Formats: sequence, structure tokens, C-alpha cells
Amino acid sequence: MRRTILIVVIGLSAAVAYWLFVGGSDPQSQEATPESGGSLADVIVPDTFTTNAQLGEQVYTAVCAECHGANAAGIGGVAPPLVHAIYRPSHHGDEAFQVAASVGVRAHHWPFGNMPPVEGLTRGDVAMVVTYIRELQEANGIN
Ligand code: HEC
Repeated sequence: MRRTILIVVIGLSAAVAYWLFVGGSDPQSQEATPESGGSLADVIVPDTFTTNAQLGEQVYTAVCAECHGANAAGIGGVAPPLVHAIYRPSHHGDEAFQVAASVGVRAHHWPFGNMPPVEGLTRGDVAMVVTYIRELQEANGIN
């Protein structure tokens, strides 16, 4: 009898621990809020990219994705999605990306803080990143 109670208690503790550590970081519940660590946009990835966009994706993955997330979907608590209407070409032209990479960005649209400059990129590198982002944006109806 005592053993049964002990097993039940252990079982309940395990359930609570699971809920706290695993349930609490459920990716579904992370999607909506800018604070939470999950991706901030549901990004449709096109089947094919142009060659320049593919090169841009490599640069993006190496130096931008740690903050802006896989497929530029953003990371809650870190940085915004670049596949977002705010960053459409008429509102943030290609030069905004060049400036962001070379001198950084003072926080103004989001609660994430400043973006530091990204070292070691040529304008050509950034132009390919922009091509990649624009093709992602287009696939998501952001023109
Ligand atoms: C250390 C994290 C970090 C990295 C790395 C990073 N960014 Fe950012 N970026 C941010 C944050 C945070 C913002 C949001 C600033 C704000 O509140 O508007 C931002 C904003 C931007 C903007 C919007 C600029 C504007 O004028 O509003 C662009 C474009 C951008 N990032 C492109 C890039 C590109 C391209 C790369 C890779 C070359 C990159 N970022 C790497 C954190 C980062």
C-alpha cells in the first residue's frame, strides 16, 4: 500500500516536472508573442530560389539567422521576422538592409533592442541576402 502511494507521488511529480519543462516550452504556445523564443511568422518557403538567392541564403544562414531565425521567421525575444509587411520593398528598400548590416539598427519597430553591425560582409554579400529575403517575402504575398 505504502509503495503504491510512493509510486503515485513519483508519478505525479514526474507529470508536474514534464509540464513545467516540456509543456512550458511547447513551440505552439511560443508562436504568438514577441517575448517567447519561438518563430514569429509562419513562412511559406518557395520550391525554388534563383542562384543569387541561394547564395544569399548561405550568407543569411551564417550571419543573420542566429537572430532573425530560420527562413527569416524571427525569434521571439531576439529579433523580428524579415518576412513581414514592415520590411516590404516600398517600406524598407534594399538600402535599408545595406545600412542595417554595415552600421546596425537602433531599435525602433520592436522591443528587442538594437541590431549590432554585422562584420565582414561586402555590399555584394548583402545584396544576395536581400535577394533571398525578397524571394521569401514574395512567396508570402509581401511585395
Ligand atoms: C544580434 C542579432 C542580429 C543579427 C545578427 C542581425 N540582426 Fe537584423 N535586426 C536585429 C534586431 C533586434 C532588429 C530590430 C530593430 C528594431 O527594433 O527595429 C533588426 C532589424 C533589421 C532590419 C530592419 C532595419 C530597419 O531599418 O528597420 C533589417 C533590414 C535587418 N535587421 C537585416 C539583417 C541582416 C541582413 C542581417 C545579417 C546580415 C541581420 N539583420 C543580422 C537583430 C539582428
